[in-house]
Amino acid sequence: MKDTYPPINGKAPVLLHGGDYNPDQWTPGVWEEDMRLMKLAHCNAMSVGIFAWAALEPAEGRFTFDWLDRIMDMLAENEAYAVLATPSGARPAWLARTYPEVLRVRANRQRNLFGQRHNHCLTSPVYRQKTYTINAKLAERYGNHPALLIWHLSNEYNGECHCDMCRAAFRAWLQAKYGTLDALNHAWWTAFWSHTYSDWGEIDPPSEIGETSVHGLNLDWKRFVTDQTTDFMRNEIAALRTYAPNVPVTTNLMGTFPGLNYWKMAPHLDVVAWDSYPRWHKPGPEGTVDDIGLASEVAFVHDINRSLKGGRPFMLMESVTSATNWMDAAKVKRPGMHALSSLQAVAHGSDTVQYFQWRKSRGSAEKFHGAVVDHVGHEKTRVFRDVADVGTKLEKLGDIVGTTVRPDVAIIYDWENAWALNDAQGPRRGDKGYLDACKRHYRAFWDRGVPVDVIDMDQDFTKYKVLVAPMLYMVRPGVDERIAAFVKAGGTLVATYWSGIVDENDLVFLGGWPGGKLRKVLGIWAEEIDALYPGEANQIVPDEDNVLCLSGPYAAHDYCDLVHVQDAEVLATYGQDFYAGRPALTVNHYGEGEAYYLATNGDDRFLNDLYGALCADLDVLRSLRADLPRGVSAQLRSDGERTFVFVMNFNAQPASLDLGTASYTDLLTGEVLTGVVELGVYDVKVLAA
Ligand code: GLA
Ligand code: ZN
Repeated sequence: MKDTYPPINGKAPVLLHGGDYNPDQWTPGVWEEDMRLMKLAHCNAMSVGIFAWAALEPAEGRFTFDWLDRIMDMLAENEAYAVLATPSGARPAWLARTYPEVLRVRANRQRNLFGQRHNHCLTSPVYRQKTYTINAKLAERYGNHPALLIWHLSNEYNGECHCDMCRAAFRAWLQAKYGTLDALNHAWWTAFWSHTYSDWGEIDPPSEIGETSVHGLNLDWKRFVTDQTTDFMRNEIAALRTYAPNVPVTTNLMGTFPGLNYWKMAPHLDVVAWDSYPRWHKPGPEGTVDDIGLASEVAFVHDINRSLKGGRPFMLMESVTSATNWMDAAKVKRPGMHALSSLQAVAHGSDTVQYFQWRKSRGSAEKFHGAVVDHVGHEKTRVFRDVADVGTKLEKLGDIVGTTVRPDVAIIYDWENAWALNDAQGPRRGDKGYLDACKRHYRAFWDRGVPVDVIDMDQDFTKYKVLVAPMLYMVRPGVDERIAAFVKAGGTLVATYWSGIVDENDLVFLGGWPGGKLRKVLGIWAEEIDALYPGEANQIVPDEDNVLCLSGPYAAHDYCDLVHVQDAEVLATYGQDFYAGRPALTVNHYGEGEAYYLATNGDDRFLNDLYGALCADLDVLRSLRADLPRGVSAQLRSDGERTFVFVMNFNAQPASLDLGTASYTDLLTGEVLTGVVELGVYDVKVLAA
């Protein structure tokens, strides 16, 4: 059965290629040259107007669209499309001077001066009205323009504001949520340190000059910031919809940016987009480069973006053509890496490859940031040729538009869980290693070409065979029941140490952990958790004849839960310390399914062996039925009938892959491939079955 999504916009049923384009920094003569170069670069989508407010409204109420009219027409004449931005990410100086309330106030209550970008209040009625007006003008003027493809809302929404209006809005949000102060005081456990509130007006957002120790407050503030940002974004969308009801909207997200819960924003977007800036070729502490590990980490984030709208293709809104100027070292991409990293996004579900930026600006902060067109101004550069090469490759992959993947495996990475976990003082300080743990579990699937969805705990689990929930510290209402139902119906759960500790208010479940139904599902209870210092290790010693055929021993780091088995079976025990011999890995048969508990943070070999056994036993979907050499990734997209497998070599050396008797056509070269196939350094092949 066909299983595809419509293209981002029906008028362009192709993969999109292009970048942030700032004609407002240049003169019409340069625009003509840009059009010539765009064709040579095989670019068909330009993101225009992202920071163009001053060029669009140079004085209050005086609008100057002539330059943008010309650019939109030129794009259309050249068979290219506009990803047209709303300019709220940065405002003109006159706006800040006339309405100082639009400037952001910091947690220390100091109002910012005009400057930078993203420096605006999320609540200010004036700012909302001004953004509404400029958006409506853009929509009225360009809503039916043949070049308009999609709206690019603002730019990388982020940050928070502590002005009087934002604080009042926070209090109103709390009142709507809790109804009574008693309910709030209970949820925030304010009897602690005599923090009981007796009036709504006493509540302030967390601040280094005020309150930081009330975890429920910290959590609600973060939720509020997400809601207020979403509300701000919806105001922007409403303006666009008045004149352009059928043009899709997106905004560029920032991967696992901790400041906003993207699961709350995604439902308001037609398409998800994100900005990806990996540090390719960066040497680690030992001086060795691990692009393979990095590739898996980037894949994890691509998969979040695909999962945010249930599998719908996303947009790689920004990436760099070569060197990123804000990194410690602006390292240029080694030959081959540009095509590889670009197509990796497509492999994981992007229908676009876009860059920051088209043309290097001449002055200011980003004048040395990688671009398609360098200051030299012509096309005879390595980077330009690499970009054009990606463009020709994307033109050969038209059949992939709208296709997706339906994985059997999901990993839970949950923003609110991250917030609460990392806010807690204990069992370690600061970052608890949650994101890292999720990425390490993910790696075991990536290594064997097993597609994965990365979801939050509110999503539907029933469509998966395997649900991996590392460090599920927070369990919001109903989540434990849904996990129980998933396992009961035959699903396989993998849970770890430090799970089921707190409820949605960051209040600890009484009666021991894991709390709620998780205890019954996992068949264990944990009495203590031992946190290890960096460099310390324990051991996981598998029982002989364990069902997973784990051999071990494996190293264990960071955390060791000391658990008691209730209904579960012990598969491995600790090798050292006073808790040697106590359970380190258990499995509980619950209903038709199985629930594994990893009491400690096992090393990569442990995760690899564990998931290798589970993937084989459960016959989970693999992108390619082949043994992948180290550093070679395989990722599937399908339209429900035809399959397209991206095979990508992240090694700085050639690799060979045995496809067995299966035969494929490489869509990039037209070659028919079967048996042993040689992959060059950073090579990509797209195998159509
Ligand atoms: C972000 C922004 C862009 C640009 C790039 C530079 O992603 O959205 O405007 O500043 O960083 O890497
Ligand atoms: Zn404010």
